Amino acid sequence: MTSATTSVAAVLSALSGKDFLSSADTTAEQTAALLELASQLKSGDRRIDLGNRVLGLIFTKASTRTRVSFQVAMARLGGQTVDLNPQFTQLGRGEPLEDTARVLSRFCDVLAVRTFAQQELADYAYWASIPVINALTDLEHPCQALADFLTMQEAFGELQGQTLTYVGDGNNVAHSLMLCGALLGVNVRIACPDGFEPLPGVLDQARSLAIGGAEISVTSDPSVAVAGAQALYTDVWASMGQEQEQLEREKAFQGFCVNEELLAKADARAIVLHCLPAHRGEEISAGVMEGSASRIFDQAENRLHAQQALLAALLGGL
Ligand code: CP
Ligand code: NVA
Repeated sequence: MTSATTSVAAVLSALSGKDFLSSADTTAEQTAALLELASQLKSGDRRIDLGNRVLGLIFTKASTRTRVSFQVAMARLGGQTVDLNPQFTQLGRGEPLEDTARVLSRFCDVLAVRTFAQQELADYAYWASIPVINALTDLEHPCQALADFLTMQEAFGELQGQTLTYVGDGNNVAHSLMLCGALLGVNVRIACPDGFEPLPGVLDQARSLAIGGAEISVTSDPSVAVAGAQALYTDVWASMGQEQEQLEREKAFQGFCVNEELLAKADARAIVLHCLPAHRGEEISAGVMEGSASRIFDQAENRLHAQQALLAALLGGL
């Protein structure tokens, strides 16, 4: 083992057995070490076999990337996953979460939960005796943020001092970008219409966590936010569970499309990111989505590498 490998393992050993409910659940050093491990796993410099460990997937919302990347990540770590969707388990018929979480802890080694309320995720973590991972809630999407900053790191090397501008809804994805970016020393600028800002509590938390002088800011002017940024990021205007607000949001978000005109105001080397799924012609133009600045499909791939690193750390396999 190289000394770099040893130090990553030493930093990440403190995560063994822990939950990952929020981007703020890891320290700045642990967040950087997770990206380093993800990069080693991606390049093939590092291989990890956890033995036959089992990840339970409890998803109450649709998913392509998160579900499949967790399944493949566990397979690559020598483990496997079980689908525990509430419509197929007794959860869907009203079995209490506290009973479900305790029973599943006897069968599985780790759980990934995608649901609406952050409190429900916290309840799983409280009742389960195994690590619980946030696979997206209405409040946060911390696994996504790890992959996002891994992609930015691949493009620019050093992350500290770089600027990521997020244009769109101050939602779960924006919250995790603010927190994770702060821990990595990345300036995160959120540009959103009035009334769609990120939660003030998350903004305060991100500012309090920021290292290396990183600035976390919110504005309603996308042009100002994008000036000189190294990464331009967007997400859907109506998240899962907000489908009935689609038309109202389409009106409110006019002027918040990541298109060629907006991209031209960013740093000349700027990359474009989107967590996907995307709505071309709404939050992103088809041209930018498919253009030379887009790293969107590398970013999707990086979900696999980032989550493989996270699982290895939480399962104490380093
Ligand atoms: N980005 C993301 O979480 O995608 P899925 O909803 O397909 O998992
Ligand atoms: N904000 C989006 C992200 C999807 C990956 C949602 O919650 O639907």
